[in-house]
Amino acid sequence: MTGDAHASQDLGERWLEHGRERLKSVDLAPRAETFGLVEEVADGIARISGLPDVRLNEQLRFEGGEMGLALTLDADSISAVLLDEATGVEAGMRVSGTGEVVRVPVGNGLLGRVVDPLGRPVDGGPPIVETDRLPVERPAPAIIERDLVSQPVETGVLVVDSLFALGRGQRELIIGDRATGKTSIALDAIINQKHSDMICVYVAVGQRATAIERAIEAVKAHGAPERCIFVAASAAEAPGLQWLAPFAGFTMAEYFRDKGQHALIVIDDLTRHAATHRELALLTREPPGREAYPGDIFYLHARLLERAARLAPELGSGSLTALPIAETDAGNLSAYIPTNLISITDGQIVLDTRLFAANQRPAVDVGLSVSRVGGKAQKPALRQVSGRIRLDYAQFLELEMFTRLGGVSDTRFKDTLTRGERIRAVLSQPRFTPLRQADQVALLAALNTGVLDTLTPEAIAALRPRIAPALDDAASDLVAAIEAGEKLEFAAQTRLADVVRTLVESGHG
Ligand SMILES: Nc1ncnc2c1ncn2[C@@H]1O[C@H](COP(=O)(O)OP(=O)(O)O)[C@@H](O)[C@H]1O
Ligand SMILES: [Mg+2]
Repeated sequence: MTGDAHASQDLGERWLEHGRERLKSVDLAPRAETFGLVEEVADGIARISGLPDVRLNEQLRFEGGEMGLALTLDADSISAVLLDEATGVEAGMRVSGTGEVVRVPVGNGLLGRVVDPLGRPVDGGPPIVETDRLPVERPAPAIIERDLVSQPVETGVLVVDSLFALGRGQRELIIGDRATGKTSIALDAIINQKHSDMICVYVAVGQRATAIERAIEAVKAHGAPERCIFVAASAAEAPGLQWLAPFAGFTMAEYFRDKGQHALIVIDDLTRHAATHRELALLTREPPGREAYPGDIFYLHARLLERAARLAPELGSGSLTALPIAETDAGNLSAYIPTNLISITDGQIVLDTRLFAANQRPAVDVGLSVSRVGGKAQKPALRQVSGRIRLDYAQFLELEMFTRLGGVSDTRFKDTLTRGERIRAVLSQPRFTPLRQADQVALLAALNTGVLDTLTPEAIAALRPRIAPALDDAASDLVAAIEAGEKLEFAAQTRLADVVRTLVESGHG
């Protein structure tokens, strides 16, 4: 018995000893989770007191689980935008910081999905399988981490690909009044990636839900939605979510850029985003600047678009191309937001209300549009055949205006006018009918060699969809050569033009 008693005493001592050891390593200093207090809620903004350690853009969690984003930090209070519908959050609620800036899910699991700017599915599908979560604000690649833009982004829109060629890593603004075809051009560019290796991210900011629905449906009907991510923040969503959307979209797209892949992001549109930013800034009592926009809007958008880049080989040679959209009022390109965006992009596709009204589709103003870096990335064959068109077309437009005003007689300039009308017909294109580079080259070669001179614009339009099958039939070697980026001998150009000539003679003369 005594042996047993000894043993249990030993055990007891060892237990005590062990307990004392563990106690030494326990941190007994007081630790508190800080809670702040919601002072007031109005217009999607909560003013919060008692959270001194919160950082800018930190994600906040309210008592009921709702999310917020710290937008401005003052000495004794912070203003947070609510990222959920405001209903749940009210004055007197507790709120805490999460210690993290807002992060969104990234990865292949987002492909084919429609998500809100926090990456939560809104398409009724299963939860998103995320590879990682990354902050919505990430530094843009530094100059030495970048490479020159040298590979094309083919939009399938002839006027863009031939005259304003885009390159991977470029930032090209699509700008114009309401209903001039801005979204359509961007969607065409996405749809044309059906046959490329590009991942597309379409970010809808402040649009009506039905318009977003239509855009997604268009990609589903004509493109490869399984390689697209749709980030939707409709006008009905909390302003905070709309504000976050472009940043979230960039983070989702960058994931592919940083893996050495190629991505294209469309932000539709930054004018709405600027308006939301202004609204939030006014509500959080930041002083307004020019045209009542807070002074940091330029910096905000510049920082955002800087994230589009072609990365250097050491970083995997991936790319992110950005097509931000901006809406003008009465064609005014010199308003504050348009000038800002024009100056922080590598060019702009300008869409014009008058051209649109005159039935020009797409209504691209060839004189005001420009692409500053993509030309070097254009396929050589397309560059060869589009050389003269821009000048000829510009001359025609000027002349047409004069003849309308009665300045010159039609007959003296008949050739220029005839040719100009043919160019206009060739540059027209219904939406969602992308042309391959080879189709574009053949059309332009035909134009250059006069094959289209006898055709009416309607006949040229009817010809367009018949070109691809005819080329595959009669010149598949040239189609392959053009896609492979080869230059074309003069004889090859003639052959392409002849394919079109045969089509014309077979019933479209
Ligand atoms: N290339 C085109 N061919 C035919 N119709 C077009 C074309 N581009 C635009 N449209 C028409 O113009 C309307 C407005 O285009 P949309 O892209 O929505 O303009 P925005 O985005 O500038 O408001 C579309 O509903 C469509 O009917
Ligand atoms: Mg639109």
